[in-house]
Amino acid sequence: MSTTGTESREPETDAPHTPPSPDGAARPAAEVRLLEPGEFRAAHALFGAALHAGGPVDDDHWALTRLSYAPGRTFGVDLPAGTLAGTAMSFGSALTVPGGARVPMAAVTRVGVRADRTRRGLLTALMREQLTDAADRGEVAATLRASEARIYGRFGYGVASRGRNLRVAAGARFRPHTPSGGEVRLLHPEEAAPLLPSLYARILGATTRPGPIVRDEGWWAHVLRPRRSADGARGIAVHTGPDGDDGFATWTVRQEGTDFGENVLELGDLHAATPQATAGLWRFLLGIDLLRAVSAHLRPLDEPVDLHLEDPRACRTTGIGDETWLRLLDVPAALAARTWGEAGGEPLRIRVHDALFAGNDGVHVIGAHPTATNGAYPTDPAPAEDGPADLECDVTGLAMAYLGDRRPSELVASGWWTAHDRAAVPRADQLFAAPAMSGVPWCGTFF
Ligand SMILES: CC(C)(COP(=O)(O)OP(=O)(O)OC[C@H]1O[C@@H](n2cnc3c(N)ncnc32)[C@H](O)[C@@H]1OP(=O)(O)O)[C@@H](O)C(=O)NCCC(=O)NCCS
Repeated sequence: MSTTGTESREPETDAPHTPPSPDGAARPAAEVRLLEPGEFRAAHALFGAALHAGGPVDDDHWALTRLSYAPGRTFGVDLPAGTLAGTAMSFGSALTVPGGARVPMAAVTRVGVRADRTRRGLLTALMREQLTDAADRGEVAATLRASEARIYGRFGYGVASRGRNLRVAAGARFRPHTPSGGEVRLLHPEEAAPLLPSLYARILGATTRPGPIVRDEGWWAHVLRPRRSADGARGIAVHTGPDGDDGFATWTVRQEGTDFGENVLELGDLHAATPQATAGLWRFLLGIDLLRAVSAHLRPLDEPVDLHLEDPRACRTTGIGDETWLRLLDVPAALAARTWGEAGGEPLRIRVHDALFAGNDGVHVIGAHPTATNGAYPTDPAPAEDGPADLECDVTGLAMAYLGDRRPSELVASGWWTAHDRAAVPRADQLFAAPAMSGVPWCGTFF
């Protein structure tokens, strides 16, 4: 895919600098390069320091962490002396879109710039290179989790799924009508490594919820690496229903006081194929002895924990946060990959602005072309057109509606989208809505 867009700003005197190219065109202020595997550890240390996430990792930790650095996907920017000043990496994944198809996706992570080299355009240069590289690989989208909400919008990322933070009183009683059945068993960490990746893949294969992604081997190796004593104990449980293993949860426990029982179980991961398995795992967690509460971060907005409890106030929402930040790299392919709601009438014309990818910039027609069926989508999506449009937005605004998280009417009302034809707004709401029974967008994988 071709790129367009503005040049990076001039470097400050101590920022990395490259001379103009022979044809006289200005070069980016910072020269981004692919890092060699031997440099990944330095990149990891730089990222950890940028995030204030502790010192360099020890050899045992690194032996497993390095597996999550995919070759050919870790970028860096150097100081003039050759020391690394900034880095960003991704791993190849796939994103579930409305209707259940999965599109190739870059999972972007470990983005950091040395504190003494920030605000000189290094991230801007890294992002441009990384997004172009992902698009050249045929990846339809890139997603990430943002440490701060003001960083990534300028690069075309928009919040495409959100999650709910919960604190549930331990021992809370379940209503008699809560789905039930099945067994829960604890796993030793050594048992989890061969079991959880395939169980997660089975659950993912059955879901039509927009947002979940494929987890690669490196992700699992990093997450299931042996714990250090400072990390606290990890718990792992699997739920078995009538068709075999159908859900799992992982957690750690932290002390909130000095007495027995003053503990909070912090949920890490909970994925399940059925409502019975979801309820069974929550019932198990809330029934563990010597806990004060179970807390969970960025759970699906529609997860019915409170609906299962005799006292729904035992489940407190402590926050709602952004989860998936989505950058659409190939808008025609992304629009062809998802299914659309029934809206009737003429096809909808949306003008999309994208300063980086010329193929995205133009009018996209929804409702006139074949789209995804049975998880497969057309390989020759309709290119952007010229001409008038009913609605207009930039690629960030499109990402906010793409999985079904934000309705076009909300985005028009808040100024993210412009409506040239008011009658198009309710039709856009119907078209963009995720299929009724699939659930609200949610990913559930932190990276
Ligand atoms: C976030 C980070 C990578 C930005 O790197 P950087 O090289 O300073 O970014 P750039 O200089 O390319 O910034 C580009 C623009 O984004 C803005 N920006 C960058 N980081 C920002 C932030 N945290 N908050 C608000 N604006 C920010 C800059 O001001 C600049 O805008 P301007 O041109 O209008 O001044 C860097 O500050 C960092 O490493 N932070 C700590 C680690 C972290 O949070 N990493 C992200 C993990 S998801």
